[in-house]
Amino acid sequence: MARVPLIAGNWKMYRTAADGAALARDLCRRLGSRGGVEVAVFPPFPALAAVGAALAGSAIALGAQDMHWEKEGAFTGAVSAGMLLDVGCRFVILGHSERRQHFGESDGTVQRKVRAALAAGLTPIVCVGETLGERDAGQPLAVVSRQVQAALEGVTGGDLPRLILAYEPVWAIGTGRTATPAQAQEVHAALRRLLGEHGGGSATRILYGGSVKPENALALLGQPDIDGALVGGASLVAEQFAQIVEAVPVA
Ligand code: PGA
Repeated sequence: MARVPLIAGNWKMYRTAADGAALARDLCRRLGSRGGVEVAVFPPFPALAAVGAALAGSAIALGAQDMHWEKEGAFTGAVSAGMLLDVGCRFVILGHSERRQHFGESDGTVQRKVRAALAAGLTPIVCVGETLGERDAGQPLAVVSRQVQAALEGVTGGDLPRLILAYEPVWAIGTGRTATPAQAQEVHAALRRLLGEHGGGSATRILYGGSVKPENALALLGQPDIDGALVGGASLVAEQFAQIVEAVPVA
């Protein structure tokens, strides 16, 4: 099955509602209706509604950066899958390394969130990636395999096409240091094999993330198992994000 490439813009903790809506309108103008590639943006929670309104009628989709696994409850500061759907989200990023590092996100909580997102009808983008120490110790594949095995526990093979993985080496996030296309492809191919053992894989998109810029996008996106990009810093600059979308080799 052909995998439609996805370029996802993770805005992190940047942009108010008004600034986010302006960025979204700028992206709509620049991207028009480019076929063969899916595009989504992930603003902070308070900007979701305004950005969603700015994207209305465009082909750019809306997503959130995290969610809780319960439907509702006494969970101060958290939001549920249903609330994200209600405000127009189709996607949710789960297990980003910044959540793992700064907010105590574990393989176990990622697993609960993945199941809750799928059950609610949101498409989870599950982030995995090794630290520099783990890569230097020769363990990148062991680390990402553990993270993926944990995230997929309880997920059936039939659900795999509705799930997206993002390989984001922690040492490449926000550092300007990108994995080489060959380094990234090696991990992506291993993840694809792992998905195969789980009863799927060929239809599951695997994005690369970590200092993706217009200058390196083409080489990364040209790799056979790289199905798109999760873009942080460059997604806040409409011109750069649009150039990355334009770099996608469209079949
Ligand atoms: P970066 O972030 O593109 O700024 O490295 C990527 C990410 O954290 O998703």
